[in-house]
Amino acid sequence: MDAASLQKVFGETFPEQDQCITVSAPGRVNLIGEHTDYNDGFVLPMAIDAKILLVGALRRDTQVRVYSVDFDESDSFDLQCIASSADRPWSNYIRGVCKLYPTETQSIPGGMDLVMQGNVPQGAGLSSSAALEIGTAVLIRELNGFSADGVTLAKLAQRAENEFVGVQCGIMDQFISILGEKDHALFVDCRSLDYERVPAPFKAADASIVVIDTGVKRGLVDSKYNERRQQCQEAVEALRTWQPELTSLRDVTPDLKARIEQLPAVSAKRARHVVSENERVLKSVRALKQGELQRFGQYMNASHDSLRDDYEVSCRELDLLVDLVRDNPETYGSRMTGAGFGGCTVSLVPTKEIPDIRSRVLSQYEKETGLAPRMFVFQAAAGARRV
Ligand code: GLA
Repeated sequence: MDAASLQKVFGETFPEQDQCITVSAPGRVNLIGEHTDYNDGFVLPMAIDAKILLVGALRRDTQVRVYSVDFDESDSFDLQCIASSADRPWSNYIRGVCKLYPTETQSIPGGMDLVMQGNVPQGAGLSSSAALEIGTAVLIRELNGFSADGVTLAKLAQRAENEFVGVQCGIMDQFISILGEKDHALFVDCRSLDYERVPAPFKAADASIVVIDTGVKRGLVDSKYNERRQQCQEAVEALRTWQPELTSLRDVTPDLKARIEQLPAVSAKRARHVVSENERVLKSVRALKQGELQRFGQYMNASHDSLRDDYEVSCRELDLLVDLVRDNPETYGSRMTGAGFGGCTVSLVPTKEIPDIRSRVLSQYEKETGLAPRMFVFQAAAGARRV
């Protein structure tokens, strides 16, 4: 659905409103830097040209009324007492952002009516929830004439997800959904929140970013995700034997790196992934800047192998897809993307190889798993904004 059609739905749903504002917020695919954000490390995601649209208008009271086209469901709540909704889980992303907006930005929003619709595949690990949180935050800012910047809204959205929705995610997804830029990837230092837009020279090199959804919903992901966070903390504590002031795996020095092998097996594996992944992000940024796609692809491959063997967040279906894409000798690189345990792979391939991937990889995957994969060719898109 385009903005004009959604504005029409808004007019039909809330006929008493005679003005409205439209906001769009993208999903994301992470090119490299997985499970590093909550370790104060580096990531390199790009915003994708799949997004959520929100159309809204202010009200004179403190009510929020919302209609989701995708779910064909409505919800309403009062800004003065926001509780979690058990029967409208999608509404909790909006509720969480509304609840935390005043604390994070020192501005108190008014009530609003809104309708929303999106085409970011849900439950596929492409951050449809971060897009909804960021879309809500930007809509509130625009409707009320506030001036919160992108970093502030990213922090607010992450807090909403952590504290209100109850998922202990890092900041990557919300950050890229608001700060992405067309034809660029975003290099983010998740400790300082400094960032740099890195030109993604894919089009010029006749290469494409191909994302394939395994069709495996991220089942136990939340408990496994939290377990990984905990294991990273345990690795930090163990490494303090040699470097007492260590607070995160981000700060493992070359000397300390040698000690990783002396840790208990699980701590050693988790630490090895995070430390090596941070190094790969830094090298990948250099490779991208130099237009060296071959080298960039090798880092993508190494990232997957590390996530599979050391961080242990891949699964049979992700490994199979990665292997099938890599079977094409012209593939630059392929890896799982996002939290893991299902969701999508991201691959960099020459554009002319897309037909091979579409026919050979998808049919072979379906034959071996009985699952119907979905394939997307994404362009790097702009972050959330008023349209
Ligand atoms: C999920 C989280 C992110 C990040 C990735 C793994 O997408 O929301 O914060 O931790 O997993 O890199």
